[in-house]
Amino acid sequence: MRSITLGRTGVEVPVVSVGTWGHSGPARVKRHAVGWAGGDDEAARAALLRACELGLSHWDTADAYGNGHSEEMIGGLWQTVPRSQVFLASKTGWVKGSAHGYEPDHMRRQIESSLRRLRTETIDLYYLHHCDFGPDDRYLDSAIALLREFQAAGRVRWIGLSDWDSAKVARYAPVVEPDVVQVYRSLLHDPYHESGLADWVAVHGAGVCFFSPLQHGLLLGKYRKPPELDPGDHRSGRPEFRDADLLARLRRCRRAVEVRFGERAQPLLDALLTPLVADVPGACVLVGMRRPEHAEAAAEVCADLSAADIDWVRRLYRGLSSP
Ligand SMILES: NC(=O)c1ccc[n+]([C@@H]2O[C@H](COP(=O)([O-])OP(=O)(O)OC[C@H]3O[C@@H](n4cnc5c(N)ncnc54)[C@H](OP(=O)(O)O)[C@@H]3O)[C@@H](O)[C@H]2O)c1
Repeated sequence: MRSITLGRTGVEVPVVSVGTWGHSGPARVKRHAVGWAGGDDEAARAALLRACELGLSHWDTADAYGNGHSEEMIGGLWQTVPRSQVFLASKTGWVKGSAHGYEPDHMRRQIESSLRRLRTETIDLYYLHHCDFGPDDRYLDSAIALLREFQAAGRVRWIGLSDWDSAKVARYAPVVEPDVVQVYRSLLHDPYHESGLADWVAVHGAGVCFFSPLQHGLLLGKYRKPPELDPGDHRSGRPEFRDADLLARLRRCRRAVEVRFGERAQPLLDALLTPLVADVPGACVLVGMRRPEHAEAAAEVCADLSAADIDWVRRLYRGLSSP
């Protein structure tokens, strides 16, 4: 597995890193599904252990994933996996207190809880999980100050800023001054450059993690019909998982990719992931790995397609609809 230097942190991480939102289990907040169904803890633990064996040593979690369940699972592995072998990232912001996820007392408790569940002295990278800082950005300054306080105390090493919307991260990055940004990017959803975030990152040398690069598995073209999803699985609320026509077109794309790159160990993963990291130095992708086979496949990704091949892949997927 190729490594990248995660921007100004100077830390080397695998270009394909490990996402653990899928380890959260089904969950709903008010009327919205926010979890993942269809997984199991044993497989999730086995996936993390296999990932580590294969050198996939950058793990991404959050306090919100299963309300701490994903963090607890990771914290339970240090007898098997040396803590020093993992670059560990977590986040806070989506679990709301009585007022707001960044309300200072609540946020302090959340960071302390992350440290406790992860059973670690220091979290390598800790993100503000979203860019909603309350009315008139009421909680912005205090959220930054709290992260800096934990950093000064050696409990957090690097600071990150995340959101589904790259433009919001571009807007707040000059104030937060994150070492790493984490945003949504896939072949069908690609506002990274036009949002202005790419320019900020280039000037400031931040590291970049692109999340949900497979659009939660959708882009793999593995569904023959709209899947039946548990109401606590966030994919149940996403119209693209119910779009039979899109699913059929994604299956056709998959077949075309497998013909063109058939000599590769992971033709489809190489095609879907390489374009996202090829044009951003210091970028990795976070792939959700719920089973050991996911880690084994990810470890075979080369992410080294030529410019002509990347152009071919982009043209193949261009025009497929995406929200
Ligand atoms: N900062 C944020 O706001 C934010 C938001 C979203 C995600 N993230 C991070 O990014 C990570 C990745 O995003 P994601 O989990 O949404 O989705 P993703 O990486 O786009 O897709 C993950 C899913 O793809 C499928 N998959 C992966 N490898 C596979 C393989 N080799 N063969 C077959 N299927 C495979 C699995 O689906 P099945 O489980 O159905 O088999 C897996 O759960 C998250 O886990 C999280 O750490 C962060």
